[in-house]
Amino acid sequence: MVRRERLAGQPTRGKTALNRLRQIDVYVALTHSGALLGGTPLIVDLGFGAYPWTTLEMRQRWLRINPRIRVLGVEIDPQRVATALPYADPPAVDFRLGGFNLWDIVGPHRARLIRCYNVLRQYDEAAVRPALIEMAKALEPGGLLIEGTSNPTGRIVAFDVYRRESDLLIHEALVFGTNFRAPVEPVDFQTILPKRLIHHMLDPRPSAFFGAWRQAFTLIWRSVGYNRGQSRQVWRSQWIVAASLLKSRFGYPVDTRPGLIRRGYIALRDSLSEESLDSSIPHTHQ
Ligand SMILES: C[S@@+](CC[C@H](N)C(=O)[O-])C[C@H]1O[C@@H](n2cnc3c(N)ncnc32)[C@H](O)[C@@H]1O
Repeated sequence: MVRRERLAGQPTRGKTALNRLRQIDVYVALTHSGALLGGTPLIVDLGFGAYPWTTLEMRQRWLRINPRIRVLGVEIDPQRVATALPYADPPAVDFRLGGFNLWDIVGPHRARLIRCYNVLRQYDEAAVRPALIEMAKALEPGGLLIEGTSNPTGRIVAFDVYRRESDLLIHEALVFGTNFRAPVEPVDFQTILPKRLIHHMLDPRPSAFFGAWRQAFTLIWRSVGYNRGQSRQVWRSQWIVAASLLKSRFGYPVDTRPGLIRRGYIALRDSLSEESLDSSIPHTHQ
């Protein structure tokens, strides 16, 4: 077991909920299933919370893509690891005490994908980049790191997708998702942005993007009329038209792969950050 002083990070609140991370899992299945194919990939769920539900659900959802995936839930809180261990079935499912310095526990068995969800929101902004780099050390070449935030039920989500390329961690996409269970407006996502962005809403790039997205919604409301009581089908149509306006009228690089926007995802190939998020990953000598 890892010694306490070697755990990078700090204990934070452990709230989670069944199906809270469903949208992230579905997004990966729709857009990155290729990354899960081949061999027995190790998937890490870092900061799984007070119960291991979202880790177990993630595995269940991706088994159809690759029945040989191995899932490792990692927690900095020993009590939460103890609560999860009765659900372990190694090597397919396991739980370990650990922090952002994952490479301490995975060693040479690098991860194909790391999901770190609703964890960094409880840290200071200055801790974000070091934590991402620390986690990236444990990724396979080409491996993915997903970091983001959701509301308590997972109805709306916002996350960054990063990829390890050689010794670099590259930002690939900023994704907004909704399950259309309630009407949604661009402003709703401002409260669940990844920690790196949440305090920068007045910076030129995020402010221009949200301005454009709001304008796209307003244009639709002008043509169809605004009514928060409308049906899920209407909310879905608004979402689809707004996504297409974001691309065609405002020039944002929205991913228009079939099915993605209809399923409730607006994936931007842009970080909206004022500076590049690409970071070099130091060697770990393993
Ligand atoms: C709010 S819960 C999130 C649970 C689940 N991922 C979800 O989204 O519903 C955050 C969890 O992250 C854990 N955590 C915080 N920092 C961590 C770190 N550096 N390494 C591992 N776990 C961490 C906390 O102990 C807490 O249980």
